[in-house]
This record gives sequence, C-alpha cells and structure tokens, in this order.
Amino acid sequence: MDYVSIRVSTLRGEQKIDFNAYVKINDKMVLYLRRGDSFEGDRLKRLKDRKLRKMYILTEDEIRYRSYLQQNIETAYDNKSGQDMQSRAEVIQGAQQNNTEEVFENPDSVESYTSAKDGAAKYVDFLMNNTEALNAIMNVENVDKNVAHHGVTVATLSIALAKKLNLEDPKKAQLLTLGALLHDYGHHGTTLDVSQPLEKMSAPDLELWRQHPQQGALKVQDKKHFDQAVINIIAQHEEAIDGTGPKKMFEKDLDPLSILVSSSNAVDRLITFEGVPKSEAVKRLTINQVGRHPLQHIQLLGEILKGT
Ligand SMILES: [Fe+2]
Ligand SMILES: [Fe+2]
Repeated sequence: MDYVSIRVSTLRGEQKIDFNAYVKINDKMVLYLRRGDSFEGDRLKRLKDRKLRKMYILTEDEIRYRSYLQQNIETAYDNKSGQDMQSRAEVIQGAQQNNTEEVFENPDSVESYTSAKDGAAKYVDFLMNNTEALNAIMNVENVDKNVAHHGVTVATLSIALAKKLNLEDPKKAQLLTLGALLHDYGHHGTTLDVSQPLEKMSAPDLELWRQHPQQGALKVQDKKHFDQAVINIIAQHEEAIDGTGPKKMFEKDLDPLSILVSSSNAVDRLITFEGVPKSEAVKRLTINQVGRHPLQHIQLLGEILKGT
C-alpha cells in the first residue's frame, strides 16, 4: 500500500476526519487516528504531547484529506459559521503553523511562500476583527516547544502590538505577520536544543544560537519570491535597540518591523522555551533586559498578555 505524509498541525477542530491516519513505527504503518475522530481541546493536547510532526494517510485518501483541510479552514475563518471561538482558533493556529512548516521545508517553492503570505493577511483580519480571537489563540499551548508554533505565537503578539500602536497599513501588517511566522527559519533543521535558557547554554550552543538569524537569512536571501521585509525580520529579530544583539545593530539601523518582532519574540522565548508563566514574562523582561526593547512595546505586551 502507498502512503503520503501529512502534518499533524492540520488535524484540528471539531470536524471529524474521514480518512485513517497512521504513524510509522520501525518502518511499519500503525493506525493512530481513525475515520470519525476529531481533535480539539484535550484530545489536541494529547496528540501534541506525542511530539509527532508527521502522520501518513493512504494515497487513495489524499483527495478526502485535501477537502477536509479546505473545509476545516474555510469554516474556521467564517465569522458566521456559529462554531465556538476556541475550536476555530485551534484550526487557524494549526493552519498558520502548517503554512510556516511548509515554507521551512520547501523554501524554493513559490507556491508555499505565496500561500503562507495570503494566509498571513487572513490571519491579520481574523485577529483584528474578532475580539476573543487573541485569547483563544494564546490558549493553544505550545506543549512540544515547536519552532513553527512559536512563529505563530510571535506573529499573534506582533499583530496585537501593531494594533495597539495603531499601525494599520494592511500591507505592512501582512509582511510583519509573515516575517514573524518565519523569523526562526535559522533554527529549522539544526541540532540545537532551542528550549534551553540562553544563560544556561554551553559556549558552542550559544555560538550556534547567535548565528541563527544570519544563517536563516543566508538561506533565503537569494530567493526572489521572499520579500525584503521578511528577510530583514529573519536577520534582525534577535537584535536589541541598545546594540546588545548578535550583530550589535542599533535602533536606527533596524527595520521597524524587525523591532516589533524582536519585542514579541523576547516575550514568547521566555514563555515557550524558558517556562516563564505568561503573567511573569513581561516583568522578567523589564527587570533583566532593561533598554533592549522599546519600553512602550514591553508595556503594551504586558497589557496584551494580561487579557490572555
Ligand atoms: Fe530567534
Ligand atoms: Fe524566536
């Protein structure tokens, strides 16, 4: 029998799957999710706890899977579907994560990039037009410390921050979002355990970590379909306005969109990778990283997180 791989991040929400999904164990396909199952709330969490990235379906089920996917995403974005916000948010978070993983794995594909870019604009609309969306998205915990999921969280915080700063140009918001989704491309496919607190990294690990923005940017800068703003965000998202980032750039040299992503990224690094509670993260930044990020960003991120 022939199988094709699918991403676990696409199996979300209350819509039942109408195909069987398998995992590969010692080169054998084992039935893991049955036709008729659905994945929301606790079941989603249990699924993510397994840290599975890929599953398999029978090639003959591919069309059924594609239509499940499309239906699931369309319903989730539909403000009139009557579905509850948490279930919609789980599907939409998964779709954004899937778009990110797709570009990470296929950086040469214009189609993957374009669909992540179109998806970024939809995501901005979803967050801007649904007051409960931010909370619902932030409730989808990154239990497996996934870098693409972290990208979605950084995008979410960046959009919320842009909204508070009244930056409403839709084109810029789209590029900000796409850049935030892809910002940690430099971590894709490396052996570095990014979930270690930076102060606890060994010298070689810290060196790898310091290089990840540059490495990420290097891998995409010759690709014509990548927007310059997105490349800037990948290259500059660990920079700090006081010149204490890996490339020691200062505020005046940084793309303003990168500064927004850098602030959001600093917050979610603490929450997702260093285990700091959401309620503590901003306080921690205020105390330990004075002057590295615009004070206004940090205060606004504090307000944003207070509601979640
Ligand atoms: Fe990073
Ligand atoms: Fe990051």
